Amino acid sequence: MPRKPFVGGNWKSNGTIESAKTLCASLNSGAAAYRNKVEAVVCPITPQISLVNKLVRKSPMKVGAQNVSASKEGAFTGEVSAGQLKDSGIQWTLIGHSERRTKYGETDEVTAQKIEQCQEAGVSVIFCIGELLEEREAGKTDDVNKRMMDAVYGKIKDWKKVVVAYEPVWAIGTGKVATPEQAQDAHAAIRKMISSAVSEEVADAVRILYGGSVTPENCKDLIDKPDIDGFLVGGASLKPTFTDIIAACVPAIPLKKPKFMKVDGVEPAARGVNFFGKVVKAPTKVEGSEDLMEVVVGDDTAIVTLSVRGDRVKVCEVGKTVRVQNAHVSMIKGFIRVAVDKWSALKPAEEEVASVNEKKDMSGVEYELTNN
Ligand code: PGA
Repeated sequence: MPRKPFVGGNWKSNGTIESAKTLCASLNSGAAAYRNKVEAVVCPITPQISLVNKLVRKSPMKVGAQNVSASKEGAFTGEVSAGQLKDSGIQWTLIGHSERRTKYGETDEVTAQKIEQCQEAGVSVIFCIGELLEEREAGKTDDVNKRMMDAVYGKIKDWKKVVVAYEPVWAIGTGKVATPEQAQDAHAAIRKMISSAVSEEVADAVRILYGGSVTPENCKDLIDKPDIDGFLVGGASLKPTFTDIIAACVPAIPLKKPKFMKVDGVEPAARGVNFFGKVVKAPTKVEGSEDLMEVVVGDDTAIVTLSVRGDRVKVCEVGKTVRVQNAHVSMIKGFIRVAVDKWSALKPAEEEVASVNEKKDMSGVEYELTNN
């Protein structure tokens, strides 16, 4: 199972009610680009959690806390317990963020207690780890990550409720992002650690996010790395373009390519053929027909000529990808014609066909067009 990408937005101690409202409006309008494809959570300041929860309720965005108590509820002034988060409908919290570790003395032991509380209450955790600059320079990145991970294994019973965020401290809020290679190396090492300490299955399934000066510009090269499953974003999560970072994590969908199989002596005749193709030539009129147009579409396997009723050529702009559904394949004058009749659909597609193999024209040969 591929891992579902995950993006967290950490608003830290920023913003007002007004700015939260503006930001939520852009979170809502950018939601279509990643709905069902990327899991996303924003963590506002505590007094805004329920407001933000309400404001984004129609989007797939979830709302999390930035911190949680290491204790249960009781006489702990200023603390909010995992059970209380759960009771307020909050499903996520950050734990072990470097600012909590370095500025508020959160030790490995405390992170372990907090994770234990969350596991008991059923609250999911974004568990942050990462090295300081001097630790990286001393070649201790993996040792630090291992120490931080080792502290919590014993407390985790349900790994489905844990996401790990690798955030090199020198990259947080500094504009100095780790290179995709640096991040990939650290992520691969963390996954290996989890595999030895817990199991290969857990290591394969757990999402490991990168955090530290992530922007819409630099996120694309990072997400391409095999062990980077998303991001924890600080500064850039306060901007309307935060949803661009989430959208960049939508996995590329393998195209359902038309497959042209040579079957000697078989007349190509089929119905219900579905495929994606990029329009490579502007529609031209079919000779001798009043309302039929010819459109050439293709992908990197081949091109094929499509017969389309005139009223459907609207979507056939050169360069656009079209989704052909339930097309009819027939032989006309010795040429294959993939016809889009009134029972078929021809729509612009969300998926993009990257390249087209114009040299391989399958329209004029005896091939069977299959839809798998
Ligand atoms: P940044 O913060 O994106 O502003 O560097 C990341 C974080 O603190 O999680």
